[in-house]
Amino acid sequence: MPPARGLFISLEGIDGSGKSTQARRLAEALRALGRDTVLTREPGGASGAEEIRRLLVEGDPDRWSPETEILLFTAARRDHLERTIRPALEAGRDVITDRFADSTRVYQGATRGDLRALVDQIHSAAIGMEPDLTLILDMDPETALARGLARDSGEDRFEDFGLPFQQKLRAGFQALAREYADRCHLIDANAGPDQVASNIADIVRRNLP
Ligand code: TMP
Repeated sequence: MPPARGLFISLEGIDGSGKSTQARRLAEALRALGRDTVLTREPGGASGAEEIRRLLVEGDPDRWSPETEILLFTAARRDHLERTIRPALEAGRDVITDRFADSTRVYQGATRGDLRALVDQIHSAAIGMEPDLTLILDMDPETALARGLARDSGEDRFEDFGLPFQQKLRAGFQALAREYADRCHLIDANAGPDQVASNIADIVRRNLP
């Protein structure tokens, strides 16, 4: 008999909201429960997708139109899905991804442009799958932006759109949490990282099969 499919979890939020740290801590918590867990990220998570990532996160903010971004993020996501996410889930492993399609809905669909219908069409044609559970880290955009830029990662193309952009993103993620209320949980990320990690672990434990 094939193994039961693993759990597919995404973490979402504005730039600098602490997603990557929390994704790592959640992976550690699941492994401590004896679950075989893959930690991955978008854009990226497979070698071709990581190449596309560089095109998207580096360089001038005006380098791509929002429409072109939708196509590039979706191309990266398709590669990630084919090579990393689906094989892991089918082998019974849990997958935690730092961002997935909700980022395209909010960044390109609701913030860069008013393009949600196009995002949905392309998503259903090329991806057609949602996480079982999505944790949205909600925090003050000013603090998050300062944190994101302080990292000086060379991947600041979206941070460089500035504070009003991050404020719009936050509202977009809050609206998304209401739209997909059965899958999405809004987490207060202004609390300290230990508190946030413990809140996330509680929600995930309640959703384990
Ligand atoms: P990261 O900094 O969380 O690794 O994500 C890279 C940047 O790409 C971040 O600023 C958010 C942005 N992004 C989108 O605009 N649309 C998407 O679909 C994804 C996955 C990320």
